[in-house]
Amino acid sequence: MVNVLFVCLGNICRSPSAEGVFRALVEREGLSEAITCDSAGTGSWHIGKPPDARATEAAAGRGYDLSGFRARQASPRDFDDFDLVIAMDRSNHANLAAMAPAGREDRLRMMMSFAPDLAIDEVPDPYYGGGDGFERVLDMLEAASGGLLDHIRAERLTS
Ligand code: 4NP
Repeated sequence: MVNVLFVCLGNICRSPSAEGVFRALVEREGLSEAITCDSAGTGSWHIGKPPDARATEAAAGRGYDLSGFRARQASPRDFDDFDLVIAMDRSNHANLAAMAPAGREDRLRMMMSFAPDLAIDEVPDPYYGGGDGFERVLDMLEAASGGLLDHIRAERLTS
């Protein structure tokens, strides 16, 4: 079993979207028995809240169901429970690196590192922006999810 955790700041926009996109891909590929996923935020403001309505709506437009998601805060224990802890931006990465127990830092990755062709470092925070921010986030997450699954297949599901 490979356990994947997606992490952003609030756990109401980017990381639940990443979880929804990646879970759909895993299901489509028939790998639900081999790969689990979850999401969390480094911040505490939105604990227990459903995703931002704009994220839910944009995701639904592409067939991803975010209803039922509730925000939670990331903790050091997540580095024991998850094989990959995937940050959306550099700030998330720095916060997670500071909380990772000794010897677990190698579980931490940047989401967009799985879509190197796009040459984008971060999934930008769409919370305060308008317009097509949530659609752009989904475009990035779809691209990176494919690369992430390729990575897991190559590195973790081979034995
Ligand atoms: P997320 O977006 O990190 O993608 O969930 C945000 C949601 C809420 C806030 C910031 C970012 N906030 O400051 O409340």
